[in-house]
Amino acid sequence: MEFKARVFDPVSVKTDCLVAVVSGKADNAAAGLDNATGGLIGSARSQGELKKFLDTLSLYAPVGLAAKRLVLISSGDEDLTPAQFGKLAARIISTLAALPVKSAAIHFADLVVSERDDDWAAQALGQKIGEGLYVFDQCKSKKADRAKLTRLDLQASSTAAARKLSAGIARGMTIAEGVNAARELGDLPPNLCTPTHLGETAQALAKGNAKFSVKVLSEQQMQQLKMGSLLSVTAGSDTPAKLIVLDYKGGKKGDAPIALVGKGVTFDSGGISLKPGAGMDEMKYDMCGAASVIGAFTAVVKLGLPVNLVGVIPAVENMPSGTATRPGDIVTSMSGQTIEILNTDAEGRLILCDALTYVERFKPKTVIDIATLTGACVIALGNHASGLFSNDDELAAELTAAGEQSGDRAWRLPLWEEYDKQLKSNFADMANVGGRNGGSITAACFLARFTKEMRWAHLDIAGTAWHSGERKGATGRPVSLLVEYIAQQVR
Ligand code: BES
Ligand code: MN
Ligand code: ZN
Repeated sequence: MEFKARVFDPVSVKTDCLVAVVSGKADNAAAGLDNATGGLIGSARSQGELKKFLDTLSLYAPVGLAAKRLVLISSGDEDLTPAQFGKLAARIISTLAALPVKSAAIHFADLVVSERDDDWAAQALGQKIGEGLYVFDQCKSKKADRAKLTRLDLQASSTAAARKLSAGIARGMTIAEGVNAARELGDLPPNLCTPTHLGETAQALAKGNAKFSVKVLSEQQMQQLKMGSLLSVTAGSDTPAKLIVLDYKGGKKGDAPIALVGKGVTFDSGGISLKPGAGMDEMKYDMCGAASVIGAFTAVVKLGLPVNLVGVIPAVENMPSGTATRPGDIVTSMSGQTIEILNTDAEGRLILCDALTYVERFKPKTVIDIATLTGACVIALGNHASGLFSNDDELAAELTAAGEQSGDRAWRLPLWEEYDKQLKSNFADMANVGGRNGGSITAACFLARFTKEMRWAHLDIAGTAWHSGERKGATGRPVSLLVEYIAQQVR
């Protein structure tokens, strides 16, 4: 779909559908439309229509307008918060996708988004439109009806403004491609989305790009690297594990890279510490950290951001079997530290610790790992914020700010020594679990033991990476946060 900002008059614009966002109060900006339609907006308002935020009115063949349809959406009578603007944009695209229209034009009458400028709004609009077009029907025998839309215009006040807005829209749509790439991998079933598939997806992304290379290491190569902790997780599975290494050299030669490390458990049954049956299918999403790394690379590379970026994805399946790791087993990680595995369901940290040790060889200036790590994080923060942990206050602040700016928020939790002590083992250097209390913090403390020499942050996305229930599916979070963070670093 082509989506650009252009100068047009909402009254005379030739389009299949004019979407006019009007406020609940009488405003001058909608006066032109109101006059041309014989007072349509004013009389609708006086009948109590279009009062509340997102009140919608849809008309066919509106008299007085060149457009074939008119959709009026109310922005309410106050300035919008950034989150409300996102909801408005999502409403625009869901409305358009359901109509048999090929072209549409969007006109915002005097809309104000608090604490954000037009640049932000254009990008957010582009991103929401792109995300709104996502359909996952790969596994359906009958394909879903797709939106017919091939051209979308946004009204601009001048050609100079149009140029700027178009650039923002394009940026947003590219970020949406990254978000949607992550959603697609998350939604793909675990019999198809295997470690091998993740590796092939990464390789396909890098194909033909001289600045971008991808390596996929086998279990044998991981053995040579002495990744005893990672390999203990795949011990019960017949599906081969992979270590996927992405390397994008978009920045200056010799500049230390930013590194992203993503948990890629393509199915988490819990292993011998088997999970209960109800809802176990959702553990196909346990690779959403990995998906967010691939999604972030998708966007960063397409945006052409001048950054050196490394990605490391430990990809495994966690299954029970006669060869599976037992509770009580002690393994040696690549770092040399030994781990008593008290619960085979705390597997994310076991693969991440070796991936974090591996990433040291790139001498990254910053390492961010992303993982659907703990159910405890969902209890603490619900589905609204990702858990954020860091050994560097500045990095934590930057990531928090990137979350605010992108609407993909994270909230910091502590890494105090008192929590770390919960990991004590009588038999090894540490246990892989620290009891029920503060479960997401003790998991992060475990990772912190492997990142002492690096500037590091951990995002626990167990609550934010997917929706359960009616909207069941991957969200693509925290791709937006990551891309925003990286863009800020190179601005
Ligand atoms: N993948 C899960 C975490 C998870 C749970 C993500 C629910 C999303 C929703 C992780 O591997 C896990 O099983 N964690 C255990 C840790 C426990 C055994 C210390 C958990 O959270 O229960
Ligand atoms: Mn688990
Ligand atoms: Zn898991």
